[in-house]
Amino acid sequence: MKATAIAGSNVAFVKYWGCLDPDLNLPLNSSVSLTLDQAHTILTVEFSPHIGQDTIELEGRPVSGAPRERIIRHLDDLRQLAGTNEPARVASRTSFPVATGLASSASLFAALTVAGLAALGLSFDERTVSRIARRGSGSAARSVFGGWVEWVAGGRDEDSYAQPLAPRDWWPIVDIIVIVSEEPKEVPSSVGHRLAPTSPCFPARMAQVAQHLALARTAVLTRDLALLGRVAEEEALLLQAVATTSDPPIFYWQPATVAVIRQVLAWRRDGLPVYFTLDAGPNVHVLAQPEHVPQLATGLCRIPGVIHTMVCQPGGPPQLGDVHNF
Ligand code: DP6
Repeated sequence: MKATAIAGSNVAFVKYWGCLDPDLNLPLNSSVSLTLDQAHTILTVEFSPHIGQDTIELEGRPVSGAPRERIIRHLDDLRQLAGTNEPARVASRTSFPVATGLASSASLFAALTVAGLAALGLSFDERTVSRIARRGSGSAARSVFGGWVEWVAGGRDEDSYAQPLAPRDWWPIVDIIVIVSEEPKEVPSSVGHRLAPTSPCFPARMAQVAQHLALARTAVLTRDLALLGRVAEEEALLLQAVATTSDPPIFYWQPATVAVIRQVLAWRRDGLPVYFTLDAGPNVHVLAQPEHVPQLATGLCRIPGVIHTMVCQPGGPPQLGDVHNF
Protein backbone atom coordinates (compact mmCIF):
# COMPACT_ATOMS: atom_id res chain seq x y z
CA MET A 1 0.00 0.00 0.00
CA LYS A 2 3.04 2.29 -0.37
CA ALA A 3 4.47 3.61 -3.63
CA THR A 4 6.86 6.30 -4.85
CA ALA A 5 6.74 8.04 -8.21
CA ILE A 6 8.91 10.65 -9.89
CA ALA A 7 7.24 12.99 -12.38
CA GLY A 8 8.63 15.88 -14.44
CA SER A 9 7.07 19.31 -14.54
CA ASN A 10 6.37 20.81 -17.94
CA VAL A 11 6.78 24.08 -19.81
CA ALA A 12 3.72 25.26 -21.73
CA PHE A 13 4.10 26.73 -25.23
CA VAL A 14 0.36 27.24 -25.65
CA LYS A 15 -0.94 28.06 -22.20
CA TYR A 16 -3.89 27.00 -20.09
CA TRP A 17 -5.23 30.26 -18.63
CA GLY A 18 -8.93 30.33 -17.88
CA CYS A 19 -11.22 27.44 -17.07
CA LEU A 20 -14.64 26.22 -18.01
CA ASP A 21 -15.11 24.29 -14.77
CA PRO A 22 -12.87 25.08 -11.78
CA ASP A 23 -13.96 21.95 -9.87
CA LEU A 24 -12.95 19.56 -12.63
CA ASN A 25 -10.12 21.77 -14.00
CA LEU A 26 -11.66 21.78 -17.45
CA PRO A 27 -9.77 24.38 -19.50
CA LEU A 28 -11.20 26.87 -21.98
CA ASN A 29 -8.56 25.92 -24.55
CA SER A 30 -6.22 23.08 -25.47
CA SER A 31 -2.53 23.52 -24.62
CA VAL A 32 0.87 22.21 -25.73
CA SER A 33 3.89 21.51 -23.53
CA LEU A 34 7.19 19.71 -23.08
CA THR A 35 7.79 17.50 -20.04
CA LEU A 36 11.13 18.33 -18.39
CA ASP A 37 13.77 15.94 -17.03
CA GLN A 38 15.59 17.91 -14.32
CA ALA A 39 12.56 19.76 -12.91
CA HIS A 40 10.68 17.01 -11.09
CA THR A 41 8.85 15.86 -7.95
CA ILE A 42 9.51 12.61 -6.11
CA LEU A 43 6.49 11.64 -4.05
CA THR A 44 5.73 8.75 -1.72
CA VAL A 45 2.21 7.86 -0.62
CA GLU A 46 1.03 5.14 1.71
CA PHE A 47 -2.54 4.15 2.54
CA SER A 48 -3.00 2.35 5.83
CA PRO A 49 -5.66 2.05 8.55
CA HIS A 50 -2.85 2.60 11.09
CA ILE A 51 -2.06 6.16 9.95
CA GLY A 52 -4.92 7.75 11.90
CA GLN A 53 -5.52 10.78 9.73
CA ASP A 54 -4.15 12.09 6.43
CA THR A 55 -0.61 13.42 6.91
CA ILE A 56 0.94 15.57 4.20
CA GLU A 57 4.52 16.78 4.15
CA LEU A 58 5.92 18.78 1.23
CA GLU A 59 9.63 19.66 1.14
CA GLY A 60 10.05 18.23 4.64
CA ARG A 61 7.33 20.43 6.20
CA PRO A 62 3.74 19.60 7.13
CA VAL A 63 1.27 21.51 4.96
CA SER A 64 -1.96 23.07 6.15
CA GLY A 65 -4.81 25.17 4.81
CA ALA A 66 -5.80 25.26 1.15
CA PRO A 67 -2.78 23.32 -0.22
CA ARG A 68 -3.52 20.49 2.23
CA GLU A 69 -7.24 20.49 1.36
CA ARG A 70 -6.38 20.30 -2.32
CA ILE A 71 -4.18 17.23 -1.84
CA ILE A 72 -6.76 15.57 0.40
CA ARG A 73 -9.38 16.17 -2.25
CA HIS A 74 -7.17 14.33 -4.73
CA LEU A 75 -6.55 11.51 -2.27
CA ASP A 76 -10.35 11.26 -1.85
CA ASP A 77 -10.70 11.01 -5.62
CA LEU A 78 -8.16 8.14 -5.65
CA ARG A 79 -9.77 6.46 -2.62
CA GLN A 80 -13.16 6.61 -4.26
CA LEU A 81 -11.78 4.86 -7.34
CA ALA A 82 -10.40 2.10 -5.09
CA GLY A 83 -13.48 1.91 -2.85
CA THR A 84 -11.48 2.53 0.33
CA ASN A 85 -11.37 5.17 3.03
CA GLU A 86 -7.95 4.37 4.46
CA PRO A 87 -5.99 7.42 5.62
CA ALA A 88 -2.85 8.32 3.69
CA ARG A 89 0.61 9.62 4.39
CA VAL A 90 2.20 11.72 1.64
CA ALA A 91 5.73 13.16 1.45
CA SER A 92 7.31 14.84 -1.53
CA ARG A 93 10.50 16.55 -2.67
CA THR A 94 10.67 18.88 -5.65
CA SER A 95 13.93 19.71 -7.45
CA PHE A 96 13.04 23.38 -8.05
CA PRO A 97 11.40 26.22 -6.08
CA VAL A 98 7.68 25.44 -5.66
CA ALA A 99 4.82 27.86 -6.44
CA THR A 100 7.11 30.13 -8.48
CA GLY A 101 5.58 29.62 -11.93
CA LEU A 102 7.50 26.46 -12.78
CA ALA A 103 4.53 24.06 -12.74
CA SER A 104 5.27 22.42 -9.40
CA SER A 105 1.58 21.48 -9.19
CA ALA A 106 1.97 19.60 -12.49
CA SER A 107 4.81 17.41 -11.24
CA LEU A 108 3.27 17.07 -7.76
CA PHE A 109 -0.18 15.93 -8.92
CA ALA A 110 1.21 13.72 -11.71
CA ALA A 111 3.45 12.00 -9.14
CA LEU A 112 0.60 11.78 -6.59
CA THR A 113 -1.71 10.24 -9.18
CA VAL A 114 0.80 7.66 -10.42
CA ALA A 115 2.06 6.73 -6.94
CA GLY A 116 -1.46 6.79 -5.47
CA LEU A 117 -2.91 4.48 -8.11
CA ALA A 118 0.03 2.07 -7.66
CA ALA A 119 -0.30 2.11 -3.86
CA LEU A 120 -4.00 1.32 -4.20
CA GLY A 121 -3.33 -1.47 -6.70
CA LEU A 122 -5.24 0.33 -9.48
CA SER A 123 -4.22 0.36 -13.11
CA PHE A 124 -5.77 2.46 -15.90
CA ASP A 125 -4.91 3.41 -19.45
CA GLU A 126 -2.79 6.57 -19.86
CA ARG A 127 -5.72 8.69 -20.98
CA THR A 128 -7.63 7.90 -17.79
CA VAL A 129 -4.53 8.54 -15.67
CA SER A 130 -4.22 11.94 -17.39
CA ARG A 131 -7.87 12.75 -16.62
CA ILE A 132 -7.41 11.79 -12.97
CA ALA A 133 -4.23 13.90 -12.69
CA ARG A 134 -6.06 16.83 -14.36
CA ARG A 135 -8.64 16.86 -11.58
CA GLY A 136 -5.78 17.50 -9.13
CA SER A 137 -4.11 20.24 -11.20
CA GLY A 138 -4.87 21.07 -14.82
CA SER A 139 -1.28 21.09 -16.04
CA ALA A 140 -0.65 17.71 -14.33
CA ALA A 141 -2.72 16.13 -17.11
CA ARG A 142 0.24 16.86 -19.44
CA SER A 143 2.95 15.62 -17.04
CA VAL A 144 1.51 12.09 -17.21
CA PHE A 145 3.30 11.84 -20.57
CA GLY A 146 6.95 12.33 -21.46
CA GLY A 147 8.15 14.46 -24.35
CA TRP A 148 5.93 16.78 -26.40
CA VAL A 149 2.31 16.76 -25.25
CA GLU A 150 -1.05 18.25 -26.12
CA TRP A 151 -3.87 18.53 -23.60
CA VAL A 152 -7.12 18.35 -25.53
CA ALA A 153 -9.50 20.77 -23.82
CA GLY A 154 -12.68 18.71 -24.31
CA GLY A 155 -15.73 20.03 -22.54
CA ARG A 156 -16.47 17.29 -20.01
CA ASP A 157 -14.55 15.22 -17.50
CA GLU A 158 -14.51 12.26 -19.92
CA ASP A 159 -12.96 14.06 -22.87
CA SER A 160 -10.42 16.44 -21.32
CA TYR A 161 -7.06 14.64 -21.25
CA ALA A 162 -3.53 14.95 -22.58
CA GLN A 163 -1.97 12.87 -25.33
CA PRO A 164 1.53 12.58 -26.78
CA LEU A 165 2.45 14.78 -29.75
CA ALA A 166 6.01 13.52 -30.17
CA PRO A 167 8.31 11.36 -28.01
CA ARG A 168 11.01 12.64 -25.71
CA ASP A 169 13.86 11.93 -28.15
CA TRP A 170 12.08 13.59 -31.08
CA TRP A 171 13.84 16.94 -30.75
CA PRO A 172 16.73 17.75 -28.37
CA ILE A 173 15.62 21.25 -27.41
CA VAL A 174 16.98 22.59 -24.14
CA ASP A 175 14.99 24.63 -21.63
CA ILE A 176 17.26 26.72 -19.41
CA ILE A 177 15.12 27.63 -16.42
CA VAL A 178 16.25 30.98 -15.06
CA ILE A 179 15.39 31.38 -11.38
CA VAL A 180 14.99 35.01 -10.36
CA SER A 181 12.77 34.33 -7.34
CA GLU A 182 12.35 31.41 -4.96
CA GLU A 183 9.47 33.06 -3.08
CA PRO A 184 6.07 31.38 -3.46
CA LYS A 185 3.82 33.57 -5.59
CA GLU A 186 1.05 35.54 -3.90
CA VAL A 187 -1.71 34.56 -6.31
CA PRO A 188 -2.09 30.87 -7.17
CA SER A 189 -2.90 29.82 -10.75
CA SER A 190 -6.35 28.63 -9.66
CA VAL A 191 -7.23 32.26 -8.82
CA GLY A 192 -5.65 33.47 -12.07
CA HIS A 193 -7.81 31.05 -14.08
CA ARG A 194 -10.92 32.35 -12.34
CA LEU A 195 -10.02 36.02 -12.86
CA ALA A 196 -8.86 35.69 -16.49
CA PRO A 197 -12.27 36.43 -18.07
CA THR A 198 -12.42 39.76 -16.16
CA SER A 199 -9.55 41.08 -18.32
CA PRO A 200 -10.42 43.12 -21.42
CA CYS A 201 -7.44 41.34 -23.07
CA PHE A 202 -8.96 37.89 -22.50
CA PRO A 203 -11.10 37.82 -25.69
CA ALA A 204 -8.03 38.84 -27.71
CA ARG A 205 -6.01 35.95 -26.35
CA MET A 206 -8.83 33.48 -26.87
CA ALA A 207 -9.21 34.70 -30.46
CA GLN A 208 -5.59 33.76 -31.14
CA VAL A 209 -5.41 30.44 -29.39
CA ALA A 210 -6.59 28.20 -32.26
CA GLN A 211 -3.91 29.63 -34.53
CA HIS A 212 -1.26 29.28 -31.81
CA LEU A 213 -2.22 25.64 -31.30
CA ALA A 214 -1.92 24.87 -34.99
CA LEU A 215 1.45 26.65 -35.19
CA ALA A 216 2.78 24.94 -32.04
CA ARG A 217 1.83 21.49 -33.34
CA THR A 218 3.50 22.25 -36.69
CA ALA A 219 6.59 23.65 -34.97
CA VAL A 220 7.00 20.48 -32.88
CA LEU A 221 6.32 18.11 -35.75
CA THR A 222 8.72 19.94 -38.12
CA ARG A 223 11.27 20.76 -35.40
CA ASP A 224 11.04 24.49 -36.11
CA LEU A 225 12.49 26.35 -33.12
CA ALA A 226 11.87 29.82 -34.59
CA LEU A 227 8.16 29.03 -34.94
CA LEU A 228 7.84 27.35 -31.55
CA GLY A 229 9.73 30.25 -29.96
CA ARG A 230 7.47 32.83 -31.57
CA VAL A 231 4.32 31.09 -30.31
CA ALA A 232 5.79 30.52 -26.82
CA GLU A 233 6.80 34.19 -26.51
CA GLU A 234 3.45 35.51 -27.76
CA GLU A 235 1.58 33.19 -25.39
CA ALA A 236 3.72 34.29 -22.42
CA LEU A 237 3.13 37.96 -23.20
CA LEU A 238 -0.61 37.46 -23.72
CA LEU A 239 -0.88 35.57 -20.43
CA GLN A 240 0.95 38.43 -18.74
CA ALA A 241 -1.36 40.97 -20.42
CA VAL A 242 -4.43 39.07 -19.22
CA ALA A 243 -3.09 38.64 -15.68
CA THR A 244 -2.06 42.27 -15.23
CA THR A 245 -5.41 43.53 -16.54
CA SER A 246 -7.57 41.10 -14.54
CA ASP A 247 -9.75 42.51 -11.80
CA PRO A 248 -7.99 42.63 -9.37
CA PRO A 249 -4.70 42.68 -11.31
CA ILE A 250 -2.03 40.00 -10.84
CA PHE A 251 1.65 40.92 -11.20
CA TYR A 252 3.89 37.90 -11.61
CA TRP A 253 7.09 39.43 -13.00
CA GLN A 254 10.10 40.79 -11.11
CA PRO A 255 12.63 43.33 -12.47
CA ALA A 256 15.06 40.50 -13.23
CA THR A 257 12.34 38.77 -15.31
CA VAL A 258 12.40 41.74 -17.69
CA ALA A 259 16.21 41.81 -17.70
CA VAL A 260 16.31 38.14 -18.79
CA ILE A 261 13.74 38.75 -21.55
CA ARG A 262 15.72 41.76 -22.81
CA GLN A 263 18.90 39.69 -22.89
CA VAL A 264 17.17 36.96 -24.91
CA LEU A 265 15.95 39.58 -27.41
CA ALA A 266 19.48 41.05 -27.63
CA TRP A 267 20.95 37.60 -28.32
CA ARG A 268 18.41 37.09 -31.04
CA ARG A 269 19.32 40.40 -32.68
CA ASP A 270 22.89 39.06 -32.70
CA GLY A 271 21.70 35.99 -34.60
CA LEU A 272 21.41 33.40 -31.80
CA PRO A 273 18.31 31.19 -32.06
CA VAL A 274 17.06 31.62 -28.49
CA TYR A 275 13.53 32.29 -27.20
CA PHE A 276 11.79 32.89 -23.88
CA THR A 277 8.54 31.87 -22.30
CA LEU A 278 7.01 32.19 -18.83
CA ASP A 279 4.05 30.69 -17.05
CA ALA A 280 2.34 32.19 -14.01
CA GLY A 281 5.41 33.43 -12.16
CA PRO A 282 8.61 35.47 -12.37
CA ASN A 283 10.97 32.69 -13.47
CA VAL A 284 11.85 32.41 -17.15
CA HIS A 285 12.23 29.46 -19.51
CA VAL A 286 14.91 30.07 -22.16
CA LEU A 287 14.53 27.74 -25.14
CA ALA A 288 17.62 26.94 -27.18
CA GLN A 289 19.62 24.34 -29.08
CA PRO A 290 22.03 22.21 -27.01
CA GLU A 291 25.19 23.66 -28.63
CA HIS A 292 24.38 27.16 -27.35
CA VAL A 293 23.80 26.18 -23.71
CA PRO A 294 27.31 26.93 -22.30
CA GLN A 295 27.32 30.48 -23.72
CA LEU A 296 23.71 31.16 -22.71
CA ALA A 297 23.98 29.72 -19.18
CA THR A 298 27.10 31.81 -18.50
CA GLY A 299 25.46 34.96 -19.86
CA LEU A 300 22.21 34.40 -17.94
CA CYS A 301 24.05 33.93 -14.62
CA ARG A 302 25.70 37.36 -15.09
CA ILE A 303 22.35 39.20 -15.17
CA PRO A 304 21.76 41.01 -11.86
CA GLY A 305 18.92 39.31 -9.97
CA VAL A 306 19.44 35.87 -11.49
CA ILE A 307 19.83 33.38 -8.62
CA HIS A 308 20.68 30.29 -10.64
CA THR A 309 19.79 28.33 -13.76
CA MET A 310 18.67 24.75 -14.34
CA VAL A 311 19.38 23.14 -17.70
CA CYS A 312 16.49 20.82 -18.61
CA GLN A 313 16.08 18.47 -21.52
CA PRO A 314 12.96 16.67 -22.67
CA GLY A 315 11.86 14.30 -19.92
CA GLY A 316 10.10 10.94 -19.89
CA PRO A 317 6.79 9.91 -18.35
CA PRO A 318 6.42 9.43 -14.56
CA GLN A 319 8.25 6.40 -13.18
CA LEU A 320 7.60 4.30 -10.12
CA GLY A 321 10.64 3.80 -7.91
CA ASP A 322 11.55 1.80 -4.82
CA VAL A 323 13.44 4.48 -2.89
CA HIS A 324 10.80 6.06 -0.66
CA ASN A 325 10.64 9.47 1.03
CA PHE A 326 9.71 7.80 4.37
C1 DP6 B 1 0.33 29.48 -16.46
O1 DP6 B 1 -2.25 23.75 -13.86
O2 DP6 B 1 -1.11 25.33 -12.26
O3 DP6 B 1 1.28 27.36 -15.99
O4 DP6 B 1 -5.27 23.54 -12.33
O5 DP6 B 1 -5.19 25.45 -10.71
O6 DP6 B 1 -3.35 23.72 -10.71
P1 DP6 B 1 -4.40 24.47 -11.51
O7 DP6 B 1 -3.60 25.38 -12.53
P2 DP6 B 1 -2.23 25.07 -13.22
O8 DP6 B 1 -2.23 26.22 -14.33
C2 DP6 B 1 -1.18 26.30 -15.22
C3 DP6 B 1 -1.09 27.66 -15.73
C4 DP6 B 1 0.14 27.99 -16.53
C5 DP6 B 1 -0.01 27.62 -18.00
C6 DP6 B 1 0.10 26.17 -18.34
O9 DP6 B 1 0.84 25.43 -17.69
O10 DP6 B 1 -0.54 25.78 -19.32
